[in-house]
Amino acid sequence: MKPEQILNDPKRIIVALDVATADDAYRLVDQLNPEQCRVKVGKQLFTSCGPELVRSLSKRGFEVFLDLKFHDIPNTVAGAVKAAADLGVWMLNVHASGGRAMLEAAAEAVATRGREAPLLIGVTVLTSLSREDLAEVGIDSTPEQQVRRLALLSAACGLDGVVCSAAETAMLREIVAPGFCLVTPGIRRPEDAVGDQKRVVGPAQAIAAGSSYLVVGRPINQAPSPQDSLIAFNQAVSGVLANVD
Ligand code: C5P
Repeated sequence: MKPEQILNDPKRIIVALDVATADDAYRLVDQLNPEQCRVKVGKQLFTSCGPELVRSLSKRGFEVFLDLKFHDIPNTVAGAVKAAADLGVWMLNVHASGGRAMLEAAAEAVATRGREAPLLIGVTVLTSLSREDLAEVGIDSTPEQQVRRLALLSAACGLDGVVCSAAETAMLREIVAPGFCLVTPGIRRPEDAVGDQKRVVGPAQAIAAGSSYLVVGRPINQAPSPQDSLIAFNQAVSGVLANVD
């Protein structure tokens, strides 16, 4: 996808398939319209179900964000990224803290797919890490300083975007290009349970602040009707997109 396609993309919701088995995943996606969302496969589901599940989701018309957060030496990450790209995923991610050579190797690996290259996204600082946690692993910066540094490094290495919390979106949007993807979890409408998320933001608010894609888990995957909930999220987002146009 090119930056201008991202800017004009009407499909902003990525539903997190945070379930344990392939059966649970199929039960969920059978209730979702692939024209109206994308889906995220993370470490638990991929580790138990493997690439077959990703192929099968693609066959059902879903574009897949493979959330495996690769982090290793450049050659190994390049191989993993190429394998994910060959699976036909729409988006995948790597830890930006893996450093320049690793990020450049990942960007080169996706580029070999040409027009079919997946979006390559950097993970900056996990939202579970505090300033004290960073200090303990030798990083003498606030999480915000580190997020900025790693977002700029990701952009410089040719990545297509970063994952960021809604609290970081507006700050990052000021320092990266408009088509640079900001992928944001922690999204809730007022009526949704917050769960274990510390700071949540509404879908319209996140898009207005500059998020490109919203990762939504429990408010959709545990809703009585996932499709009705998805429609509500899409309506909230499309109101803002119409105003931006
Ligand atoms: O259920 P909920 O909407 O909180 O799910 C959010 C999804 O986004 C989960 O798959 C979670 O792992 C992911 N995520 C997150 N916070 C981050 C990065 C990823 O919640 N910082």
